[in-house]
Amino acid sequence: MRWIELCAGAAACTLAMATSDKPPQPVTWLGGKRRYAWQLLEFAGIRPQTRPEVVELVEAGDWGWVWPLLVDRGTREAICEILRGWAGRGGELLWRDLASTRPCDLEDPELAATWLALQAGNALGKAVRGDTTRWRTAGYGKLSPSAVRLGFRDRLLPGHLATKVDRCGRLLARMQPAILHMTVQEWAERGGLHDLGAGDVVFFDPPYAGRTGYGIGLPRADVLSIATLCAATGATVIVCEAEPLPLDGWHHIELTDRSADDRPTQGQREFVTMSRRPSPASQGGLFA
Ligand SMILES: C[S@@+](CC[C@H](N)C(=O)[O-])C[C@H]1O[C@@H](n2cnc3c(N)ncnc32)[C@H](O)[C@@H]1O
Repeated sequence: MRWIELCAGAAACTLAMATSDKPPQPVTWLGGKRRYAWQLLEFAGIRPQTRPEVVELVEAGDWGWVWPLLVDRGTREAICEILRGWAGRGGELLWRDLASTRPCDLEDPELAATWLALQAGNALGKAVRGDTTRWRTAGYGKLSPSAVRLGFRDRLLPGHLATKVDRCGRLLARMQPAILHMTVQEWAERGGLHDLGAGDVVFFDPPYAGRTGYGIGLPRADVLSIATLCAATGATVIVCEAEPLPLDGWHHIELTDRSADDRPTQGQREFVTMSRRPSPASQGGLFA
């Protein structure tokens, strides 16, 4: 089985596949699918601790260069050591110091450690982006009331971050992924679909149309055409969006977490549009 994660970001589904434990996440990432990861895998009939023959992650944003550094043992250890070295410094002060650095002055692995620490502290898990001379952030994030109840004191805890980064890097390394730092449009044009066929699974999690994105373009028309091309190979295709996608004959499932009075708990509706019916083992009755 080939497992392809398009728009992989923090790769929640691939990490969930690598463990039977609660799926870890290295840092909060806007649009990350951690809370739904096992459900999504179940739809495709994939069990935790599955080892596909091929794992491919396609990501045009910063995860596309950060993940390869975390998968490699040497650079992962160097990054974690830098993060642990920052452990004595207060979260917000450290975060502001890091935000004032110039990305072009930093070399791997310090660049990756800085990006991870900034991302860990960034408001609402929004994507931190670095151009040559400055970091673009959303400001230092406040802790959520539930995190405070759980006893957290600060959003950025570098020692804690190092532990999570180390665990996620090790888990992803076990999957022996090919990590392609490119757009999904480039992936499709350069023959990404060639080896796909029946039994393979493509999980596609594009930025939600019309929402503030990640600074990379992915028009709805491209999402629909790439999903259609992938499904034409015989592979199972699962696309996440904030609404059902208009693909004839595909199946729609709402994932949204709802409170007792039926409101989305996160203020955001989440749908899966799937090229075939979800696997019989997954929850039935929800799909058209
Ligand atoms: C909704 S997030 C994916 C979250 C991911 N499933 C997770 O669990 O972390 C969308 C991702 O698509 C990436 N992205 C946006 N446009 C892209 C494009 N044209 N090609 C590849 N990746 C893109 C963004 O950088 C972002 O990481």
